[in-house]
Formats: sequence, structure tokens, C-alpha cells
Amino acid sequence: MRWHRRGAAPRNKAGIGQGRVAGIVQFENVGLRYGHGDEVLRDLSFTLAAGEFYFLTGASGAGKTSLLKLLYLAQRPSRGVIRLFGTDVVTLPRARMPGFRRRIGVVYQDFRLVPHLSIADNVALPLRIAGVLESEVRDAVREMLAWVGLSHRADARPPTLSGGEQQRVAIARAVIGRPELLVADEPTGNVDEAMAERLMQLFGSLNGLGTTVVVATHDLTLLNRIKAAQMMRIVDGQLHDPTGALRFPPGRGAA
Ligand SMILES: Nc1ncnc2c1ncn2[C@@H]1O[C@H](COP(=O)(O)OP(=O)(O)OP(=O)(O)O)[C@@H](O)[C@H]1O
Ligand SMILES: [Mg+2]
Repeated sequence: MRWHRRGAAPRNKAGIGQGRVAGIVQFENVGLRYGHGDEVLRDLSFTLAAGEFYFLTGASGAGKTSLLKLLYLAQRPSRGVIRLFGTDVVTLPRARMPGFRRRIGVVYQDFRLVPHLSIADNVALPLRIAGVLESEVRDAVREMLAWVGLSHRADARPPTLSGGEQQRVAIARAVIGRPELLVADEPTGNVDEAMAERLMQLFGSLNGLGTTVVVATHDLTLLNRIKAAQMMRIVDGQLHDPTGALRFPPGRGAA
């Protein structure tokens, strides 16, 4: 389904979804330190290819969330260059950040739902921000809530939901706008195995429609659920790629 924006040009004329490049994410010698501490991430140079599915693993505290924050522009690196959708985002003026963030769906490790909004309104947020027609928003939200098994809680507020239910709302919100890049931080950490399987199917379908997906997880059983997935692993602040996932290193291949 393609959304129609209220009183606006069709999505592509608005520039959203354009600028797809072979390397949707490029890091060059990126380092990240918090305050005056040692670098948590160092010498990261890699390219993520558009349309691929990546798992990011590593021990607790290895830097998975930190790397994802660099990806969804919640954190600037201490050094190096990051290009998203072909644009250098380290020097990107603050005013242009929201336009980039809208192209990225994020499932936060701590969910970050808006507590005073209903579940349905939380899930609808990305579409409302994009100016999608209200009639289409309602249908899409209904469909999404059915997918994650929460139709019966549409009017509830997030604080009254279990951890697993909140996680499913966070996932529904992240995928509903069919982002170009989906970044999910331990998205199945709070649900049972059957639900984890269902949510991975949802990510797989979105990936099949062209979204590049990056999922950070501790759960090694998840890794087998997406057959064509590539692996990224953080060890001692550096990134390893046991499946050769980080091909096209800058300067040796993709644009
Ligand atoms: N805002 C911050 N300020 C200072 N240090 C931080 C901050 N965020 C993370 N760190 C430190 O950076 C390191 C990496 O943390 P990060 O949250 O990225 O790990 P993680 O791999 O996501 O761990 P987990 O699997 O437990 O979620 C840790 O040592 C952590 O203490
Ligand atoms: Mg984390």
C-alpha cells in the first residue's frame, strides 16, 4: 500500500524514498567515546547495502545500542564520517535532521512510547507526521495492530501494557511507515518464542519490500529465522563480519 498525503504531492514528488544508493549506510574510520572515557567503538569502516538484512550481535555492553544510535542519528561520532542515503550526516545542519529521521524506523531497546497517547495513536504517529490521509491512517493502524496481536488493546495507554505488549506497539510504530531503513534494538527481548517468530516474519516481509533492516540481538535462535541475513559482531569496540556482510568498504567498490 502506498500512502496518500493530505493535500500534498505524491510521496515520491516530495523526495521521500528517493536517493536510494547501493550503500545505504557508509562508515569511514568512525570512533565513539562518551565524555572523556575510552572509545566504545573504534575504527569502524563499512558499508551496508540497500535492501539487505543485518543482525548485529555482541556481548552486553559491547556497543550495539551505541552503533544503532549513530545509525538513527541520536548520537554524533567522536571522529570519522557517516553517510546515510548518500549524504554526510555528521556535518548535516540540525534543521535537516528530521527529514532524515523520517526515513528511518526505530525500535528502541526501552520502547519510548508516548504514555498519554493510546496504543492506536502511538502506532499512527509516523503516518500522521508524514501527513497521510486520516482514513488511510485508521486502516493501516488496524492492520498493524492485528499483525502484532493487539487489536483488543487499541484504546489502552502504554503504561497499562506488559513489557512484551509495549514492545509489539514499538515495532508496529517503527514499521507502519515502511521506512527505507529499519533499526531495531533487541526487538524480541520481551516476547515469547512464537511471537518472536511472528515479529521476525514481519521484519522479513518489510525487507522483502525493499527496507534495509538492522536488528541488534542477543538471541542467537533469531539468527536462523532470516535465511539470507548477514552478520555483524562487535568485539572489543571493533566490528567483525563473519558472513562477509560489510562488503564494499569505502574506496573499494560501491558508490
Ligand atoms: N550515554 C552514555 N554515557 C556513558 N557511557 C555510555 C552511554 N551509553 C552507553 N555507554 C557505555 O558504552 C558501552 C556500550 O553500551 P551500549 O549500550 O552501546 O551496549 P550494548 O551492546 O547495547 O549492551 P546491551 O546488550 O546490554 O544492550 C557500555 O560500556 C556503556 O556503559
Ligand atoms: Mg543495547
